[in-house]
Amino acid sequence: MRLKIVAGNWKMNLDFEEAEDLISAIADELENIDLGHAEVVICPPFPYLEMALDIAIESDFSVGAQNISHFDNGAYTGEVSARMLASMDVDYCIVGHSERRKYFNETDEIIAKKIDQAIEHEFITIFCCGELLSERQAGKHFDVVREQIEKAVFPLSEKEFYNIVIAYEPVWAIGTGVNATPEQAQEMHAYIRNLIASRYGKDVADETSILYGGSCNSKNAPEIFAQPDVDGGLIGGASLNADEFIEIVKAIL
Ligand code: PGA
Repeated sequence: MRLKIVAGNWKMNLDFEEAEDLISAIADELENIDLGHAEVVICPPFPYLEMALDIAIESDFSVGAQNISHFDNGAYTGEVSARMLASMDVDYCIVGHSERRKYFNETDEIIAKKIDQAIEHEFITIFCCGELLSERQAGKHFDVVREQIEKAVFPLSEKEFYNIVIAYEPVWAIGTGVNATPEQAQEMHAYIRNLIASRYGKDVADETSILYGGSCNSKNAPEIFAQPDVDGGLIGGASLNADEFIEIVKAIL
């Protein structure tokens, strides 16, 4: 049975005290929930990772980084390497988010190098893919997503692919309040699963967690997560409120 995951991507939000309050509130609420075969992941900004990891020791969530460098080590001012994060016991990392592609010029080639770093250091890697509104309107959404996955992920061997989680995040849905409909999400997730099956085989595809991201909240999560190929969500804005985030977590159980 594949893993159900709800991951909170805090992006560049909250000061230290706010971050500590939020993560403590989430930890408190998780105490009353039996996650079973499901996983909660919190991805705070880099400076808060250690605080999050300290709280995670006593709680039922994992900690992830929002980004990693595509370089291994050395004179790269401002970068944070996979090796550093692995040495802190961070388990997850997000790679290929559309905001990284848009604002930091991350290409499929750079993203592929980041994935290599993440795999080498044994992260569970949440790989983000998704089309722009203009690409969907032009009917190219399947091709765009296929190309993103083929370039960045399919170079991996079957063994390496085992640590990949896919997050389908249509760019037009991120932070806009306009989520994909459950049908649109299911259609793309099924497409992605078939794509994975064609590269790695059906058994691997059946075990791959595919998350939905883009204006997911406690109201729309139950219907989106009920789709057969949707295995949870990557949550931005709604992960900044503990009660809201916990309601979304409950929607995967
Ligand atoms: P959103 O962001 O939930 O605020 O739309 C999702 C994401 O970017 O991962």
